[in-house]
Amino acid sequence: MTKSEHYIAMEARYGAHNYHPLPVVLAKGDGPYVWDCEGKRYYDFLSAYSAVNQGHCHPKIVEAMCEQAHLLTLSSRAFYNNCLGEWEKYITEYFGYQKVLPMNTGAEADETALKLARRWGVKNKGIPNDKVTIVCCDGNFHGRTITIVSMSNDPESYADYGPLTPGFIRIPYNDTNALETVLQQHGTSVAGFLLEPIQGEAGVYVPDEGYLKKCYDICKKHNVLFMADEVQTGIGRTGKMLACDHENVRPDILILGKALSGGAFPVSAVLADDDIMLNIKPGEHGSTFGGNPIAAKVSIAALKVVKDENLMEKADYLGRIFREEMYAIKSDMVEKVRGKGLLNAVIIRPKNGKQAWDVCMAMKDLGVLAKPTHTHIIRFAPPLVITEDQLREALAIIKTAIHSFD
Ligand SMILES: Cc1ncc(COP(=O)(O)O)c(C=O)c1O
Repeated sequence: MTKSEHYIAMEARYGAHNYHPLPVVLAKGDGPYVWDCEGKRYYDFLSAYSAVNQGHCHPKIVEAMCEQAHLLTLSSRAFYNNCLGEWEKYITEYFGYQKVLPMNTGAEADETALKLARRWGVKNKGIPNDKVTIVCCDGNFHGRTITIVSMSNDPESYADYGPLTPGFIRIPYNDTNALETVLQQHGTSVAGFLLEPIQGEAGVYVPDEGYLKKCYDICKKHNVLFMADEVQTGIGRTGKMLACDHENVRPDILILGKALSGGAFPVSAVLADDDIMLNIKPGEHGSTFGGNPIAAKVSIAALKVVKDENLMEKADYLGRIFREEMYAIKSDMVEKVRGKGLLNAVIIRPKNGKQAWDVCMAMKDLGVLAKPTHTHIIRFAPPLVITEDQLREALAIIKTAIHSFD
């Protein structure tokens, strides 16, 4: 038994079976690379679902984490700590909001945003407490809590987890008429419209140009909060700091996670202005770990790296090369290529019974790691620190893997 087989067997024996990983056991990472237990090197084209935008083990982020770990790891919010305020100032100025609420995971940040919107709906808009509604989209993915999966139309997410949380109306994604119609019918009881500016887990669905701005305008017309889940699309991934920046839309509630810490530590956040955020008073929401000193230091370091290393510009430039090269592949397995910046997907047309999973296995054997989302889509999202030469080397591997099915 190899070392890798040993670890895979342990997980199968003792761990819950709630994931179906590619059979590779990672032991080390550096920039765009990861290494398995046997020392084989791979390009990481998942980046931990876009958490590792700044590259694996970025020295500045690791240094911030280690330095703080020796001083104070957790104060809880029962007391103040000497890092949180500094982070709050930094991140609110960075994204241009009056207030931030720190959490840990993306799902927690989404839950927080839902609570904030419901509160605002009751307090500011005067919606009766039991009537507050949030509009969300078909194909959404916002995490795994009961309330969040209550918004989902993917049975894998919600089936047999009932009773689900009420208070949501789902409309088709990329359909401004549907939003206008639902708000005309139910607008007085709708507090917020929650969407991903690009739907990541659904398979990197990029909406039509102008969709975000139109949705924002419709929300304003009906006094509804525009809530952007940028957990996956934010922090440079799509070629701008936020995917909403492509259309100059400033969400009323901005939800961030993943790359907020460069993948070093669970850090998530909700940003909003005072009229929304101050509806939650002391004791009405919180988290033991949210806003901890390590998270604060790590997140400042991670956000600095994005600007210092021009990761947004890199994502934009390299993303264009990626799509150009993928379009150029002459294989009937490549049905479609789509994406923005370095968040891209290739739709795989099955061939002789071979599907996206088989392509991922072939790429793995040749040294590129990516994961199918659903059975026919492969997401390609390398760390944004990848160089053009490295990207081109990885592209050559991806092409070889796809042509191995010719
Ligand atoms: C858009 C979006 N929101 C929320 C989440 C949930 O984040 P977490 O897994 O940190 O709870 C994800 C995770 O993939 C996501 O893509």
